[in-house]
Amino acid sequence: MYLTKEEEKTLEGEYGETLRKAIEILVALGDIYGADSLIPVKSAQIAGVSYKTIGDAGLEWISDLKGKARIPAILNPAGMDMMRWKEMGIEAHFAKKQQDIIAAYENLGIRTKCTCTPYYLEGFDTGYGDHLAWSESSAVCYANSVIGARTNREGGPSALSAALVGKTANYGYHLDEMREPVMSVTVDFEISGSDYGALGYVAGKVIGNRVPIFYLKGQPSGDEMKSLGAALAASGAVALYHIEGVTPDAIRSKYERPDESLMIEKEQILEVYETGKSGESSLDTDIITLGCPHCSPAELESIAGLLAGKKVAKEIWVCTSREVAERYPDLVEGIEKSGAKVVCDTCMVVSPATNNYRCMMVNSGKALAYVPSMCGVASRFASIEECIREAVNDN
Ligand code: F3S
Repeated sequence: MYLTKEEEKTLEGEYGETLRKAIEILVALGDIYGADSLIPVKSAQIAGVSYKTIGDAGLEWISDLKGKARIPAILNPAGMDMMRWKEMGIEAHFAKKQQDIIAAYENLGIRTKCTCTPYYLEGFDTGYGDHLAWSESSAVCYANSVIGARTNREGGPSALSAALVGKTANYGYHLDEMREPVMSVTVDFEISGSDYGALGYVAGKVIGNRVPIFYLKGQPSGDEMKSLGAALAASGAVALYHIEGVTPDAIRSKYERPDESLMIEKEQILEVYETGKSGESSLDTDIITLGCPHCSPAELESIAGLLAGKKVAKEIWVCTSREVAERYPDLVEGIEKSGAKVVCDTCMVVSPATNNYRCMMVNSGKALAYVPSMCGVASRFASIEECIREAVNDN
């Protein structure tokens, strides 16, 4: 791999041990994947934040690093709402470790508003063709597919290394040829809202880590594409998808329909809504969570509208980023008037606070896929309206 003189000096340790380690990780990845050089990236989004997932070893590794991020960099959700962790039932020991992790990242100049939807944040503008080093799978899928930016699905250490060096290795989804669709997915009936999460949940299992192009009826919204990508990345390992006539790469490149094809039937989508509803494993829902990925302002508005004038009878979390919540205090107040909780900095999957429940109702294909394995809690899938009806006991 070609390195500039400066990069070689960094690799030799001339600018300190942290930068040496960071560039070593990037060069090793570049060598493995056949990159020709390092390229500048506009921003980094770093996973590996929750104490639940990285533990003491992760905390120690981050604490040992020194230096400052050279580009805007932000964190993925942590294991708790950094302000209201006691209300969530988080233990003091966990909270202390989580605070230490956040402080260690802050020392490295990383923005510590923790979210998987950095594209909603001010000062984190991301446009078509921008090269990035993002790591959370739904954020990667959104950046590549909906925005038309370019990022691989970075691991936490490689995203952090990219933040410190300001560069990443030029391979994978940074290259035109890796972005071409290799299979088509046809949905020959109208879908809307949470159906997109169900579609991603079903299709991701077949697609795996390939790049699909969808042929859909109708024009999905940004939030619907966010749900689709999150589920594709969770039930499969999709980091980039196209939608004919909708997503920016598909509009510009006018791809031909790939030979390999997948047809999704209506029954497959309807079956997702039946998950966990009947049979021996069926359980009563004892928690409802919305906001996987973190809610957009429009989603907060729609939840506030559905909860207006109602009181919830079950635990319900609405997950979003602190920045979005702070920008829309009226929406937060409207939602919380019902007894629902607007939870920031964290989510239903990476927080240990959900482990104590038995059955979680979600409107997200990604949460449906991850909640059982990551939290040991059964999951059930429903539309946002059905989730609210369940929360207010109106079924
Ligand atoms: Fe975000 Fe957590 Fe879902 S990180 S995509 S809300 S699992």
